[in-house]
Amino acid sequence: MEPKVLDSYGDVRIVESPDSPIPLYIVVPTEFTDEEIELLKDPRKVLPNYKDIMDKIEDFRTSVEKEDFLRQYLEVQLEKEGIVTENLEPLINTIMDDVFLGYGRIGPLLRDDDLEEVMINGVELPVFVFHRKHGMCATNIEFTTHSSLNELIDWMSRYAGRKISREVPLLDAHLPDGSRANVVVAPAAPYGPSVTIRKFKKIPYNIIDLVVIKSIPIDLAAFLWVCIEGLAIHPSDILIAGGSGSGKTTLLNALAMFIPRRERVISVEDTLELNFDFLENWVPMEAFPSVLERGATKLNMAALVENALRMRPDRILVGEVRGVEAETLFVAMNVGLNGSMGTIHANNARDTTIRLMEEPMNLPARMFRLLDLIICVNRFYSRTRGVIRRVTQVSELAGIEKGVVQLGDIFLYDQDKDVTQRTEYPILLIEKISDRTGITKKQVQSEVYIRQKILEQMVKNNIRDNKHVCDIFQEYHLNPKTVISRFNLQKEIESEIKRMSKV
Ligand SMILES: Nc1ncnc2c1ncn2[C@@H]1O[C@H](COP(=O)(O)OP(=O)(O)OP(=O)(O)O)[C@@H](O)[C@H]1O
Ligand SMILES: [Mg+2]
Repeated sequence: MEPKVLDSYGDVRIVESPDSPIPLYIVVPTEFTDEEIELLKDPRKVLPNYKDIMDKIEDFRTSVEKEDFLRQYLEVQLEKEGIVTENLEPLINTIMDDVFLGYGRIGPLLRDDDLEEVMINGVELPVFVFHRKHGMCATNIEFTTHSSLNELIDWMSRYAGRKISREVPLLDAHLPDGSRANVVVAPAAPYGPSVTIRKFKKIPYNIIDLVVIKSIPIDLAAFLWVCIEGLAIHPSDILIAGGSGSGKTTLLNALAMFIPRRERVISVEDTLELNFDFLENWVPMEAFPSVLERGATKLNMAALVENALRMRPDRILVGEVRGVEAETLFVAMNVGLNGSMGTIHANNARDTTIRLMEEPMNLPARMFRLLDLIICVNRFYSRTRGVIRRVTQVSELAGIEKGVVQLGDIFLYDQDKDVTQRTEYPILLIEKISDRTGITKKQVQSEVYIRQKILEQMVKNNIRDNKHVCDIFQEYHLNPKTVISRFNLQKEIESEIKRMSKV
C-alpha cells in the first residue's frame, strides 16, 4: 500500500505508514555534489573568521536575528570563495547547524516552527517529534553513533556552561535559538542518553492568534486586557495554571502584550523562555539551570525574585512558581507591584491554591487576598481536531473563609461544545477594579465592551503580526479615541454606552 501523504512543506513530508502506529516525519535529504560534500567535511576552511562570528552571534537576542546574520555572512563568504551552487540554502543551513549553532543533524527539526518538541531517545533509534498538527511522529533522522550524539550533548552543556557527567547526569539548558533542552545520561539513563527539546516558537502567539485558534474566547481576552492594563491605575495580579505543555508560558507571553510599554518589567525564570521584546524596559533573569541542584534552583529563583524587588520594577513576572519564591511574588503584589503575574504547575484553580499552601511553597491563606485571578489552561487530544489547547477555567479569589480560599468561576470550558463561556456568577473583580480606579462598574463594563469590539476588528482584519498587535494595544493605552475611530467604532460604542447607562 502506498503511504498516504498527510502534509508536505519545504523538504518535509509527513506520511501515514501501515508499518507505524504514528505518522512518519520525513526530512528529504539534499543531494549535495561531491564538491559540496567535500566542503561540508570541514567548512571552517572557508570561514577564516568564524570564531569572531561565534562571539558576535551571542549579541543577538532572538534566534531570527542570529540566523539572519549568519545567513548573510555565509552567503557573502561562499561567494568570496567562488562557490557556485544550486543548493545554496541547504548548504548554508548545514554549515550553520554544524559550525555555529551546534545542532548537527537535528537542525532541520529545530528550524521547523510547526514542531513543538524534539525527542532523542538514544543511538540507532528514530528521533521523535511532536507536531503542532499531527501530534507525535517518528522521524527518519537518527544518531547512528554514540560519538555523534555525545557531541551534541557536549555542545549543549558547553553552551549552557554546565557540566553533565556520570556524577551529574541531568542537565537543563537553553539553546541559542531560545529552545529549552533537558538531557539525561548514564547512570540516570542506563540505555543511552536522552535529549528532550521544547522548541521555542520563533514568532510567539499573540492574543489574536489565540482567539483565532479558539484557545481563548474573545470576551475573556477583552476582560483580561482591562485587568492587565489596569486602566493605567491598578492592574490585576494573575496566576496561569496548567499541566505540563498546556500552554502556560505561551499565554503569559501573549497577555504581557497588554502591559503598557513604558513600564519596567522584570521576569524571572528557571530556563529563559519568555520573550518580551515588545516592552522597552524589560530585564529577563534566569535562575541556575541545573536539575540536580533543584534545591539551589529554588533558592535561586527566590533570590532572584527578591532581587527583582530591588530593581525598581513596575511588575514582576515569574515563569513557573514552584518554591519559596511564591511568597516573595505575593510580597511584591503586597508592596504595590500590581500586575505581577506567574505560571504554576497545577490542574485547576483549586489545585493551585492547594499547591501554593502546601510544602514547599507554604503560602499563608491570608496572602490569597492579594491575588485576583487564576487562569487555567489545558491540552486535549481529539481525533478530529488533533491537539488543542484551551483556557478551561478562570477563577477569581473571592476571599478567605475559615482558612479556606474562596474561589468563584467566572469562565468555564464546556468540552462537548468546545467553548469557554462566561458563567452566571457576577464578576467581583469588576467591582474591585471600579474601587481601585475610581470609575463606576458600568464604566468598567463599557471598557471591556469597547476592547472586545476592537479585538473583533483585529480578528476581522486579520491583524496578526505581533508588532502591529502590540502597537494597537499601546496606542489604545495612550489615546483610545484614535483606535476607536480607526476601526469606525464610534457609533456602535456610543449607543452601547447609552444602553448600558439605562440598565
Ligand atoms: N494555545 C495554543 N495553541 C496551540 N499551541 C500552543 C498553544 N499554547 C502553547 N502552544 C504550544 O505548545 C507548546 C507548549 O507550550 P508552553 O511552553 O507555553 O507550555 P507550558 O504549559 O508553559 O509548558 P511547561 O509545563 O513545559 O512549562 C509550545 O510549542 C507552544 O508553542
Ligand atoms: Mg512553561
